[in-house]
Amino acid sequence: MGLKTEILKLLKENDGYISGQELCERFGVSRTAIWKVIRNLEEEGYKIEAVRNKGYHFIDSCDIMTKTEIESCIRGKLGRVVEYHDAIDSTNIRAKRLAEDGALSGTLVVSDCQKAGRGRRGKEWVSPSGTNVFMSLILRPDILPGSASMLTLVAALAVHEGILRETGLETSIKWPNDIVAGGKKVCGILTEMSAELEGIHYVVVGIGINVNMEEFPEEVSSVATSLFLESRKKVRRSSLIASILEAFEGFYEEFISQGDLSGLIIVYNSCMINAGREVRILDNAGEYTGKAIGINEKGELLVEMQSGEVKHVISGEVSVRGLYGYV
Ligand code: BTN
Repeated sequence: MGLKTEILKLLKENDGYISGQELCERFGVSRTAIWKVIRNLEEEGYKIEAVRNKGYHFIDSCDIMTKTEIESCIRGKLGRVVEYHDAIDSTNIRAKRLAEDGALSGTLVVSDCQKAGRGRRGKEWVSPSGTNVFMSLILRPDILPGSASMLTLVAALAVHEGILRETGLETSIKWPNDIVAGGKKVCGILTEMSAELEGIHYVVVGIGINVNMEEFPEEVSSVATSLFLESRKKVRRSSLIASILEAFEGFYEEFISQGDLSGLIIVYNSCMINAGREVRILDNAGEYTGKAIGINEKGELLVEMQSGEVKHVISGEVSVRGLYGYV
């Protein structure tokens, strides 16, 4: 962590004032160096009060998105290395490149906007600047390639939990990878991997969240929403990212220790919007309907057909819809 991040973190953690002298001693630098960092933070938009004989007092970070801001919010092991961009083609593309070049597991790529954001099944992911979260996490799990798709469900749990911690908003998960609020989509997850038969090189978990968007184009407004529209509160994106990563760590450790989702089935099913509902499944074999029961330890969706037969639906190239619309 650089000096700027350390100072920012300390100021945020401290409710009162921290004197310039204290900062100098703590970081072993001159008063001028401290003053320069504070001035630089103020230029970036932070509100810091400086009072003679008392010191510095942190007031507000608004919704600043920078590498320093994101790193200063991180509390756990994931996201200790952050690469931040104001604009990029796609954070997943960038994360895959970094992973190819040997980036550590837990490295996070974040961008304020994406020029070629990608969704599942080759769709575009609309990625405007200043309002949303676009992030990709590099992981190097010691699991078989066939288990990697379960990470999408782990990520969905983490996003659900992170949103709850940060906003108090109770969202749902639409199996396997959409987060839903008020019956509309607020988040999508795209998991990609590089592997050989016997092992995984890396997995990239890409997460796109509609955070502070105030309106959507008419074509998508019936199926898309944002955290702001659902909670009427503006959300600090850097804090949200940190809360999601913190939640991710807990669920990920559980997943890795079991080697599957057996320890997470109950919590996943309790958040799943499809549970107990009639769903329409579209896959390579065609289209069928049935009642979604929940997931099993492999993350497959169990769908009970009218005949009583229970189908195991594997995530991937499938689309799950409610009988009358998106959920
Ligand atoms: C979906 O279709 O629901 C998945 C959408 C995933 C979008 C995220 S945004 C960050 C990352 N970068 C991308 O290009 N896609 C993912």
